[in-house]
Amino acid sequence: MAQQYRITLLPGDGIGPEIMAVAVDVLKVVEKKFDLQFEFQEALIGGAAIDATGEPLPAATLDVCRNSDAVLLAAIGGYKWDSLPSHLRPEAGLLGLRAGLELFANLRPAKIIPQLIEASTLKREIVEGVDIMVVRELTGGIYFGKPRGIFETETGQKRGVNTMAYTESEIDRIGRVAFETARKRQSKLCSVDKSNVLEVSQLWRDRITKLGAEYPDVELTHLYVDNAAMQLLRAPKQFDTIVTGNLFGDILSDAAAMLTGSIGMLPSASLGASGPGVFEPVHGSAPDIAGQDKANPLAQVLSAAMMLRYGLNQGAAADFLEKGVLQVLQNGARTGDIMSVGMQLLGCRAMGEALIQVLEE
Ligand code: IPM
Ligand code: MG
Repeated sequence: MAQQYRITLLPGDGIGPEIMAVAVDVLKVVEKKFDLQFEFQEALIGGAAIDATGEPLPAATLDVCRNSDAVLLAAIGGYKWDSLPSHLRPEAGLLGLRAGLELFANLRPAKIIPQLIEASTLKREIVEGVDIMVVRELTGGIYFGKPRGIFETETGQKRGVNTMAYTESEIDRIGRVAFETARKRQSKLCSVDKSNVLEVSQLWRDRITKLGAEYPDVELTHLYVDNAAMQLLRAPKQFDTIVTGNLFGDILSDAAAMLTGSIGMLPSASLGASGPGVFEPVHGSAPDIAGQDKANPLAQVLSAAMMLRYGLNQGAAADFLEKGVLQVLQNGARTGDIMSVGMQLLGCRAMGEALIQVLEE
């Protein structure tokens, strides 16, 4: 009998529904080829949820996610909701989902696709062969630390406050994920912090160093975040696995993504100690091109591949999807974000169709 999985789909906002539709069609091919059965259930998040219910993360959505084997998310946000107070913005829905499912580990691979080297803004010799995994802490740090808010001071001035804090156990659990991840790669881990200025980073470096003693086979280095940002652009091939806190990881993962030419190609996995993971593209909802059939659906498809690999333990099916994506690029198919001379410009739907054709061959 076919192995069954319950998958929650969160299409969200902007280009979200378009790219999600492609991923679902592609997963239907995977079902047939690998004798799997996906039961898809769709739920609301972000701006779409605000419009329908007044809240960016309705309780029903969190329930549906908890009752599934994996969650596939597209993107949230848009100009329309930008002026709402921060706890009612679409982003609050995403942060609530991460916190609600305790997804403390965010894996963001940035791997150069040979077919797309020309799309990188950096020189070929700098980016050729780049293969980096950013392990970002996702449920702590300045994103969640308290106190937070905009308060009035004694002089009547407003003062904005956020708190960057990590406990030893929070550092240790993301550290372990990072060391284990590095072990499955080139066994090189670079921990990024700002321990020359921040106490929270001093503790971070201290704990990661201690943890390193348990992983003598992994080569551990440390960089300050400003230097890490520079090194990512100067000589990205020095990196294998990077581990860092929530805010630094947010920034460095966008920078690492751009080495590969387009953020439109990059997937991510957010995992907890147990329970369903959330799999989503690194890119956002691109409201400027929403509804125009211009979006690149491949990061969403590659996120589905990460879901198969890390969420459902279906590595062969993940390989199949990833190979299909390389093949469709090899055939010359391109969306606008990765277009170059001599290639065939396709819309979102047509890219999906081209991919399905490759997968069904
Ligand atoms: C990301 C995004 C989110 C973040 C936003 C949309 C809240 O930038 O997933 O990297 O800052 O974590
Ligand atoms: Mg980000």
